[in-house]
Formats: sequence, structure tokens, C-alpha cells
Amino acid sequence: MAYYRATGHIPPKRHTQHRREGGELYYEELMGEEGFSSDSSLLYHRNIPSTISASRVWELTDQSTTPNHPLVPRHLKLHDLFDETAVQTTDVVTGRRLVLGNGDVRISYAVAARPSPWYRNGIGDECVYVERGAARVETVFGAFEVGEGDYVVIPRATTHRWLPVVDEANPLRAYCIEANSHITPPKRYLSKFGQFLEHSPYCERDLRAPSGPLLAEDVGAAADDETDVYIKHRGTGPGGIVGTVHTLPFHPLDVVGWDGCLYPYVFNVRDFEPITGRVHQPPPVHQVFEGYNFVICNFVPRKVDYHPLAIPVPYYHSNVDSDEIMFYVDGDYEARKGSGIGRGSISVHPGGHAHGPQPGATEGSIGVDYFDELAVMVDTFRPLDLGEAGLAADDGVYALSWSRGSGAQGSGPGGSAHSEG
Ligand SMILES: [Fe+2]
Repeated sequence: MAYYRATGHIPPKRHTQHRREGGELYYEELMGEEGFSSDSSLLYHRNIPSTISASRVWELTDQSTTPNHPLVPRHLKLHDLFDETAVQTTDVVTGRRLVLGNGDVRISYAVAARPSPWYRNGIGDECVYVERGAARVETVFGAFEVGEGDYVVIPRATTHRWLPVVDEANPLRAYCIEANSHITPPKRYLSKFGQFLEHSPYCERDLRAPSGPLLAEDVGAAADDETDVYIKHRGTGPGGIVGTVHTLPFHPLDVVGWDGCLYPYVFNVRDFEPITGRVHQPPPVHQVFEGYNFVICNFVPRKVDYHPLAIPVPYYHSNVDSDEIMFYVDGDYEARKGSGIGRGSISVHPGGHAHGPQPGATEGSIGVDYFDELAVMVDTFRPLDLGEAGLAADDGVYALSWSRGSGAQGSGPGGSAHSEG
């Protein structure tokens, strides 16, 4: 992360003796990226962090993928994936279902009422977007209370768990973006030393970090409880991903202090300040994060193009180098008559195929001065394949929605009162 934080009890000088009241040493762990050549943090544990007492296989949910072939744009209806019964038995970690994936990033979805087990992603960083509902996320760095619109960015190898706030009318809906790399703010938003620059649509004040008191102080009698930690890691399974469960002879929240520049944080989409212009601004102005070979953008409620002859919806565009995955979170999608695109929809616009407004939407947008929409977009530079949930959620007719008289009109992204797609 961009800047240094310190929390809890740490010694005045790194790599020196740090003892508890009884005189026993704490165990120092360096958690660092790119070997020892990038951001890191030092954590002080009550227990030796490499200790395990048992291990077993964790059978992941189906990670197999199917190519998007023959190549077509698609509409995936994520809200069809979990019925009320499934929600009651699902947690955000073991129950997430794979929607799309490639060798760089995987997008999964979960609607969950159950607490997750302790979990660590050993493959890459995770960015979990909370579409609806609320949860407490406990990590070895501290805890977060998260809710609608939060991006929860969790560095690779961070032990944590998800505890949903149970609300049958508004369950936790988690849109999980798992990288095979690190997820960071765009480099162009940062100074050469990592501070957010003035043109960035958000800055340090908008980021929530875990804060004290550290959870090790709250564990109490559970400190010696044997605990399973579910680890997703590289292997020879579908997508090169497999799982292992490690049993620890103690509670994983045993950190009494940490400092450094690597830690989980939360950013809420409502704190993203949109960049607008006289004529249509390209999607990079909406970027919020990036990983290796993909970017994450968000389209937030905003005033739109104000040139006297402006066309607020986008021109047709061939994103020749990327697949474009738009997740529709909020907005007046009722205007998209007959489309089916709405809250909880994903549009898949693959590289090699032009896309843009539905018939009539370009003319219809003229004079509109505000877009009331909220969408999260992932663009990948390698093609995405469909996971089992992507196949299950496919409406099967979206590809025809630009055909006049097809009966499927109206499903084009960038509908009459909306923007990108
Ligand atoms: Fe697009």
C-alpha cells in the first residue's frame, strides 16, 4: 500500500528483542512482496508463525472453465445463482462460485449468511466488492466493518475470515476479484514515492486501514484453540489452483503489533470522485485499481458531458486488446426495456467485437446531464473463459440485442440513460 502505518506494540528498532511481560520473546515475521524488494510489514506474533499440527486437502468449488467460443457478448445474471436456501449454507470463502477466469484473474460470486473459516489466498491479492449487505472482516492486521460499496483489498497470504451480518432481507453479496498478482492503485495516480497525486480521483484519506486494539488482545480464552486455516494456492488442479487446510494449535489472531506499508484496506466506491469533461471521457478516467494484465474501473453517479453538441453515451468501441466485464450494481435500469440487464447483471464484451449503445440510445441520450448509475468493470488483457457459474447465469440471448427487430432490443449496455458498457 502507499504509505506507512504502525499499530499495537512494536519495538523501537526492527529485528531487535521484543518481549512480553513474562520475558518471553514475540516472534517477528516479515510479510513482503517481490522477495525483499517491494512493500512489506513486520508482524509480532505470540506464536511461531510457521507452526502447524496437521494438514489435509481442501476440495475447492468447481474451478474449471469453458472458452467463450463461438465468440459472443454475453449477459450473466448473478442474482440467479444463489436461492434463499443456498444462502443459508454459503460462506464467502468456500462457497464462492467461479463466474469468469483466465491465467491472470478470476471473478467469483457468493451470497452468504454463514461465517467463513479462516482463509489465506496464497496465489495473489483479492479485491472483494461488497454489492449488498454487511460483514465483519477479521484479519491478522485488525478488523474492518464493511458494507455496501466497499472494496476490501486483501494482500496475498493475509489470514482472515468473513463474518456476515445476518439479514435475510439483505444478505451479504460479495463480488470477488482474485488476482494472480498484486492489486494496487494505478501507478499514474501516484508520485514516485507512492503518494496519491492531485489528479487521482481518491487519496489516502479515503482509505480505511485496520486499527487497534489488535485482535490478539480480544481473543482471550480462545488463544489456545486449535484452528483450521483454508489456503488457496498454486497446484495442478483446474486453473492451476488447489486448496489445503492447515491446522494450527492456536488461534490465528496472535499479532500484538505490526508496522509497514503492506496491509489490507477498504475503499468505498462512494468516495470515488468522478472525472468528467465537455465531451465523452474514456474509461481509464474511471479506473480505481489494477493488477497484472487487468484493470478495475467504476462508473459512479455523475454529471455528464457538457459540450453544447455532446453525446453523453459512448461511441461504439472495439476494445481490441481486452475483454470488458461490467457488473451493474445500481442505477435506473428500468429504462432498458426488454433487456434483462439490471442490478446483479454482468455484461461480457469480448475483445474482437465492437460494442456500444443499443439502437436509438445515442439519439436518446442527447440533452441528458446526469447518469444515475453504479457499475464495477474489470478489463482483462487476455481472454476470459466462463466458469461454471458463468455458464449457469448466461441468459443466452444477449448477443442478439443490437439487432433491430430481434425482439431482444434494449439489452445493449449504454442504454438510454446510461453510459459505458
Ligand atoms: Fe466498453
